[in-house]
Amino acid sequence: MNGLQILGTGRALPEHVVTNDDLAKIVDTSDEWIVSRTGIKERRFAREGETLTQFAVEAARQAIARAGIRPEDLGLCLMGTVTSDNATPAQSCLVHQALRLPEDCPAFDLSAGCSGFLYAMETAAALLPRMSRPYALILGGELLSRITNMEDRSTCILFGDGVGAVVVKSTQDAPWYAHLGARGERDILWSGGMGSEERYLHMNGQEVFKFALETVPQAARTLLAKAGMEKEQVDWYVLHQANHRIVESVARRLKVPLSKCYENIERYGNTSAGTIPIALDEMAEQGLLKAGQWIMCLGFGSGMTWGGALFQWQDKEEK
Ligand code: UT7
Repeated sequence: MNGLQILGTGRALPEHVVTNDDLAKIVDTSDEWIVSRTGIKERRFAREGETLTQFAVEAARQAIARAGIRPEDLGLCLMGTVTSDNATPAQSCLVHQALRLPEDCPAFDLSAGCSGFLYAMETAAALLPRMSRPYALILGGELLSRITNMEDRSTCILFGDGVGAVVVKSTQDAPWYAHLGARGERDILWSGGMGSEERYLHMNGQEVFKFALETVPQAARTLLAKAGMEKEQVDWYVLHQANHRIVESVARRLKVPLSKCYENIERYGNTSAGTIPIALDEMAEQGLLKAGQWIMCLGFGSGMTWGGALFQWQDKEEK
């Protein structure tokens, strides 16, 4: 079966930094509470007039350039998001338009909450062999500030805005193991949608926490079993950045060192479907990802959904 090789990564976040002290001026909270309960120090919020499209297009352009391909080489364009600029067309179609992608490059969004990027990756792994060309642009990201009630201290301290992107190639040479799941459930984490009167995110934080600790370690074990690997053989665990305490607890349950878990939550908060591709881009930029290393990405979110992917980082062939 064909797997995915990541050829290039990109990310784009708003410039506007919002610190915990800034939020403490709006709601009854403190830097000390937020840091100790979540690990978050600051996040980015889009300014009035900024759009998800502009961040998505910027991240996509970087990923395409680093992959060494041209937009017209793409055979598929997917985006995991729940905060598309429009109810329709899909966010991925707005990216398609901006990048002038070819007509035989289908584009659609996946709504799987914070698992959206991993749902999109596995969809690409399955679909790409049937497309006109073997390259896909896969994005994940949000403007969660648009659906966050800034007067609700239980949610406004957690979320942030940002988009990550990867360009992948479908190839038999790339090992690829994935595992997706869902426990259909509305009331733990939901929003009525951007245009709705109930657009704000509603969340039972403790239930989400519990859900993550039930599903994420299990997803990791499933992936290791599929690959016939031991947890020690994985070089990097890239977990959805929702809460430092969740990353810590998952690492403890899996008995893997925290030093193998990449974290950037202190700078960006939870950007939902954006956290994993943004992390991959930072890791690539910092030279942390080396050819031959095994990467396990794990996510969970609204739905309630979860997803995981285990793959090997490979140097891209010079085109
Ligand atoms: O992508 C998935 C998205 N969501 C998540 O991953 C959320 C997962 N859950 C969490 O991260 C944590 O449950 C939270 C960070 C949301 C909350 O932490 P917690 O340790 O579960 O706190 P809690 O909800 O049990 O609240 C403890 C106390 C409460 O006060 P009382 O009832 O003990 O007096 C809250 O009212 O902390 C209070 N509280 C706050 N205090 C200061 C809740 N939010 C805040 C706040 N600042 N921002």
